[in-house]
Amino acid sequence: MIAVTGAKGQLGGELCRQWGSEAVGLDLPEFDLLDFDGVRRTLRELRPHAIVHAAAYTAVDKAEEEPDRCFAINATATGVLAELARELNCPLLYVSTDYVFGGEPFRTEPFREEDPASPQGVYATSKYEGELKVLAWEKHYIVRTCGLYGRLGANSPGNFVETMIRLGRSGKSLRVVDDQFCTPSYVVHVARAIRYLLGTSMFGTFHIVNDGFTTWYRFACEIFRLLNWDVEISPITTEEYGAKAPRPRFSVLDTSKYQRFVDAPPLPHWKDALAEYLQEREKLYPRNKVAG
Ligand SMILES: NC(=O)c1ccc[n+]([C@@H]2O[C@H](COP(=O)([O-])OP(=O)(O)OC[C@H]3O[C@@H](n4cnc5c(N)ncnc54)[C@H](OP(=O)(O)O)[C@@H]3O)[C@@H](O)[C@H]2O)c1
Repeated sequence: MIAVTGAKGQLGGELCRQWGSEAVGLDLPEFDLLDFDGVRRTLRELRPHAIVHAAAYTAVDKAEEEPDRCFAINATATGVLAELARELNCPLLYVSTDYVFGGEPFRTEPFREEDPASPQGVYATSKYEGELKVLAWEKHYIVRTCGLYGRLGANSPGNFVETMIRLGRSGKSLRVVDDQFCTPSYVVHVARAIRYLLGTSMFGTFHIVNDGFTTWYRFACEIFRLLNWDVEISPITTEEYGAKAPRPRFSVLDTSKYQRFVDAPPLPHWKDALAEYLQEREKLYPRNKVAG
């Protein structure tokens, strides 16, 4: 049995759906990462064969206002899970982020797993500290991914695609950042890759994102093109958008280490992945078929 934290979130929820009865999903309120004794108790009782740690404090801008809480969840609690994984002698897979590469704005080459991290801001730094905690247990995987979207979990705050669809419906003109390059990724594809990796026992760090890269503006344009919606949308800069927390200007991840597994599930191009999600979404939320 595999213990999945963040089971009510986007990725944790998708992992639980794909694993079915093989997984036990853990999340708030019964499972609180800030209750370290409770976390220890739960996992010692479960004695899982593996722990997949997809829960996190993910509110990137809010994290700037509550760094202690963000670090406690993303770094300290991850350390508790690493200790438990060692005690239970089971693999631990920690989900991390492209944000660990926030400090190289002039970069044009995708980042490889061994490239030095340069996290900027509270969320990114806390996730990187989580990575360092996980390194203490040899049977670890660190999976860095980016821009997740897919079926929302019961607790998910939303995602970029859903935000664009909501704003697109409002009929207002939109302004979207066009100077941050990365690869938005579909949770169904990321979850398949995570499940595959766990079966390899090839521990280490892996970059798992869809293929190719884009900007948020171009991603938004593709969403509306696929939906066939006529939305007025214009590109803006990161400065014009003015978010509280810093975002990487270029955080494209090189997935060739994962691609070397010849039988690994594919990581389709981001445009194909988006089209797949929008088709799937029509089945999930039929009323949203109505455009505009
Ligand atoms: N979303 C992205 O674009 C993205 C990009 C790169 C990497 N990642 C990483 O990928 C992983 C999954 O992301 P996601 O989009 O699936 O996140 P998500 O939808 O926000 O889900 C995270 C889950 O963790 C739970 N959680 C938060 N604090 C907790 C606590 N103290 N104890 C127990 N559970 C807690 C959340 O519950 P509440 O909602 O109730 O707080 C939520 O159910 C995270 O590790 C994230 O850092 C995400």
